[in-house]
Amino acid sequence: MEIHSAKFVKSSAKFEQLPEPNYPEYGFVGRSNVGKSSLINALVERKSLAKTSSTPGKTQLINHFLINEEWYLADLPGYGYAKVSKTQRAGFGKMITDYVLDRKSLMNLFVLVDSRIKPQKIDLEFIEFLGVKEIPFGIVFTKTDKLTQKQAHANQKAFRNALLQKWEQLPAMWFTSAVKGRGRRELLAFIKEVNEVWTPVN
Ligand code: GTP
Ligand code: MG
Repeated sequence: MEIHSAKFVKSSAKFEQLPEPNYPEYGFVGRSNVGKSSLINALVERKSLAKTSSTPGKTQLINHFLINEEWYLADLPGYGYAKVSKTQRAGFGKMITDYVLDRKSLMNLFVLVDSRIKPQKIDLEFIEFLGVKEIPFGIVFTKTDKLTQKQAHANQKAFRNALLQKWEQLPAMWFTSAVKGRGRRELLAFIKEVNEVWTPVN
């Protein structure tokens, strides 16, 4: 898929503020600092469409971008940010939970996982929640430029094994690097395919 336009639409602090669910939508979610905003910029090849930061927990809002006047990309707040209150940290945050459960136009959620580290409890818990609620999702391993192919595959295998303790089937998975553009083509091809089964929400 060629990207010919990418526009910031709005930031929402509450579910009620989200834009009308008029387009097929793809949410990007994952722990703070995992590389959500960077991957979004890499996908659409715009350097600073989504704000990135080396300080975790920067995006506390849901930011919507309209791509090709045809589909929405949603940059979600990070979960598991250590500085939020204990009660907030226990869950994934009300904004994320409301969005995942009630966003009618959500076609697929991309769950970003840092390719450099062993399976994290909070990621596994989040994925379990998606499975129980039957939310369509895939797993995106980020920052693969920071390790060797061998290490990335070993970490992915550990992640698959952790998932296989609970599930018989594994979700779709991609290796990505926002720096190198790795995975860009595959993710866009997937989105294009899923866009074709969109039926307007009424
Ligand atoms: P929050 O919005 O705070 O939850 O963070 P985020 O998930 O949006 O992460 P963000 O894109 O802001 O990136 C966090 C840090 O990781 C930044 O310093 C990025 O430059 C760096 N980073 C993100 N993706 C990559 C990547 O693919 N490779 C490398 N080397 N660094 C990356
Ligand atoms: Mg961000």
